[in-house]
Amino acid sequence: MKATATAEQIRDAARAIRAGRLVVFPTETVYGLGADARNGDAVARIFAAKGRPSDNPLIVHVRSIDEIDGVAEHLPSAARRLFERFSPGPLTLVLPAHRALPRTVTAGLDTVAVRIPRHRVAQALLAACRCPIAAPSANRSGEPSPTTLAMARASLWRASERRTADDEITFLDGGPCEVGLESTVASVSEGRIVILRPGFIAADELRLAVPDAEVLEAIDAAAADRPSSPGLKHGHYRPRAAVIAHDNEGESLESLLSRVFERERAAKVTVGVIGIGPVAGSIADAFAQRFTDSVVDSGVGPVPRVILREAADERDYARELYRWLVELDVEGAGLIVAVLPPDRGVGRALRDRIARAAGA
Ligand code: TXA
Ligand code: MG
Repeated sequence: MKATATAEQIRDAARAIRAGRLVVFPTETVYGLGADARNGDAVARIFAAKGRPSDNPLIVHVRSIDEIDGVAEHLPSAARRLFERFSPGPLTLVLPAHRALPRTVTAGLDTVAVRIPRHRVAQALLAACRCPIAAPSANRSGEPSPTTLAMARASLWRASERRTADDEITFLDGGPCEVGLESTVASVSEGRIVILRPGFIAADELRLAVPDAEVLEAIDAAAADRPSSPGLKHGHYRPRAAVIAHDNEGESLESLLSRVFERERAAKVTVGVIGIGPVAGSIADAFAQRFTDSVVDSGVGPVPRVILREAADERDYARELYRWLVELDVEGAGLIVAVLPPDRGVGRALRDRIARAAGA
């Protein structure tokens, strides 16, 4: 049975939002930590609960295209066409900010990031509170984004301890998130679209929707000296375990093994291996074999554990990545080998998040 918030819980959460309090709610990408976007004090509580640097602006969530005029000064025609094609859904566009928005939301920028989420509970919450909701992912700053309610609770548990009534956080369940990685963030200006954060919706899909616009990816954009997303300069998506990104097309298994065994000396830590099967499976087997051999050689046990988490394909990997990182921490992995997926579709966003988890 799918866990999901009841109508009554959604009404209570909407009341909390209108009273200036925080609500954790599901979206199709990841869980968000929301507050009334028009209320600067409420928005400040988000930054406090997450431990988020104040120079990192938030995404404002609205119900539909019609409600964008409450948060953005205007909607460029390319942005309208993109929202018509991909909303509700995992696309965030950076638009000129409405004068009335509190500066805490935009971190003082004159632009605002806007998204229309598709998840049924997010839509119901927006409908019930009748205000735009500013929401980053519902995790402590720097940790992996939560894709289940339990992950959000675990990440925010200290913040959700109630000190005063206003500090209380309301949690709404919506089951595991369907996409599992954060939305694609793109800026739109004068027929030029720059992808600031890759996501489920890939550059080529945006190009198809607005063939007359130029669509750049942040990497090309950086070269062209375009403004990038403030969030990208902060460390992100890091579990406690060290993460090693492995590109099985560019690096041999032998080289990966020596990289790990050099780094970990005798390699006595539990190793997690995540990736798409069967490649990830054979890498896990190779680690297990190497561990057994070295214990036999040295006569010193026990044999460290190897934990495998295998995805069926890129979409499955996207859905599971953050949960696996958190689970492997709980299982006591000292090291996580994340096998990079092919660089296509959502694979690009996965490669980006894995590189960040690895500290690149
Ligand atoms: O899927 C998602 O986008 C989730 C769900 C909850 O909607 N939200 C999310 O929020 O991932 P957050 O705060 O973790 O990431 C927002 C990203 C950050 O990299 C931030 O710097 C960027 O969007 N951003 C926000 N406002 C911006 C602006 N005005 N200009 C450029 N980048 C902006
Ligand atoms: Mg985040």
